[in-house]
Amino acid sequence: MPLRASQIKSPEYVGREVTIRGWVYRLRKQKENAFVIVRDDRGGVVQCIFSADKVAGLTIESSIEVTGVVIQDARAPEGGYEIKGKSIKVYNIAGIDYPIGEYQSDELLLDKRHLALRTRKMVAMAKIRATVLDLSRRWFVENGWMEVTAPTIVKGAVEGGSTLFKLKYFDEEAYLSQSAQLYLEAMIFALGPVWSLTPSFRAEKSRTVRHLAEFSHLEAEAPWVMLEDILLVQEQLVSHVIQSAIKERAEELAYLKRDTADLKKVEPPFERLPYDKAIEMLRSKGFAITEEDGSKREIRVGDDLNIDSERELTKDASKPIFVIGYPIAVKPFYVKEDPDHRGVGQAADMLAPAGFGEITSGGLREDDIVSMTERIKKEGLDPAAYDWYLDLRKYGSVPHGGFGLGIERLMRWITNADDIKDTVLFPRTMSRVTP
Ligand code: 4AD
Ligand code: MG
Repeated sequence: MPLRASQIKSPEYVGREVTIRGWVYRLRKQKENAFVIVRDDRGGVVQCIFSADKVAGLTIESSIEVTGVVIQDARAPEGGYEIKGKSIKVYNIAGIDYPIGEYQSDELLLDKRHLALRTRKMVAMAKIRATVLDLSRRWFVENGWMEVTAPTIVKGAVEGGSTLFKLKYFDEEAYLSQSAQLYLEAMIFALGPVWSLTPSFRAEKSRTVRHLAEFSHLEAEAPWVMLEDILLVQEQLVSHVIQSAIKERAEELAYLKRDTADLKKVEPPFERLPYDKAIEMLRSKGFAITEEDGSKREIRVGDDLNIDSERELTKDASKPIFVIGYPIAVKPFYVKEDPDHRGVGQAADMLAPAGFGEITSGGLREDDIVSMTERIKKEGLDPAAYDWYLDLRKYGSVPHGGFGLGIERLMRWITNADDIKDTVLFPRTMSRVTP
């Protein structure tokens, strides 16, 4: 049975004959000997030593099977173990023009992502991501939430009409889903607290380090909750995922040079910062926003927060901050208005520390059919597309709420990635739909 390179690096294999499979990661030929670093199919690597004649014609990324004896040598790269090769079986000799070397531009790495995902950086990212998803799923299951799947082909906008991807659906027009929220809202009447992980699509026309056109959306919704209940769920979930991920993926985070000292501090409670106070803080620092025509003015109550104001609010924080009570005018039609404060929405965003910005949005949902219909119209949406959704307010409406978390936003913070594109294997942006 072939083993993985990472498996044989243990005293129990020293002196034993093993077989490993993988790809030529590095190749150094001397007069008599050749040093082949083999990468296995989980990113583990080990050096194999052969007499030079045995590896004639071998190229980088050729797929091979090596049989040899494990030896321990403190000088061996990659952890002090290596394989003294006896035989080598070649599956495929890779073309000599393999485009990924030690140094190349970010653009080339994106163009060749189908190959670049063999790099150790991408393998580390993929492993952390798998762990984050696994931990999230287990947290929901252990806390009594039921996993559901919502459709991704839909008729209505959730997060505004401007970022909708239109599609021809047989003889009608439909859209790619921006959020599963409305469907989760329907499900809570039958299933109680539910959660889902689905792709969400946004035709984001801006190029930023935190926007993708397709992202993994973790969403949750529950009946009979208050805003504080929704915040508690989020801070517990995020803290749990981070604390466990930094333990389970310490090696990968170290490879990515992520110092986890500040992540260790991520424990409930997170600060609750009222929106008005956030604006006041920004004003006291003279924070300006740029209008559509390019002119600048001081931020004021009523303005939405953006990447720059979020950075300003969180740059010195070591834990996430909830900004609560946004004006309903800057939030979608479904946000519930605070009955005690007109114009204020019972909505909250979680902002990650150190400038990473918004990673979740959530809150309570409008449960009154009249206000809801008005708000849909006000947003310029067609109430007819929401008739089924309005039924939820007609037949047994209950106070309820939930939130959505962008997995790649969370990943960018956990891994300290410069760009959100680094956190996903095949990123989709305004300018990239291949590979
Ligand atoms: O803030 P958003 O738009 O809120 C919603 O979609 C709600 N309906 C969710 C809900 O309550 N069920 O999106 C939620 C989160 C954001 O906080 C962000 O983390 C992520 O999804 N997100 C994106 N991530 C990457 N690229 C984009 N273009 C994103 N847009 C939103
Ligand atoms: Mg949001």
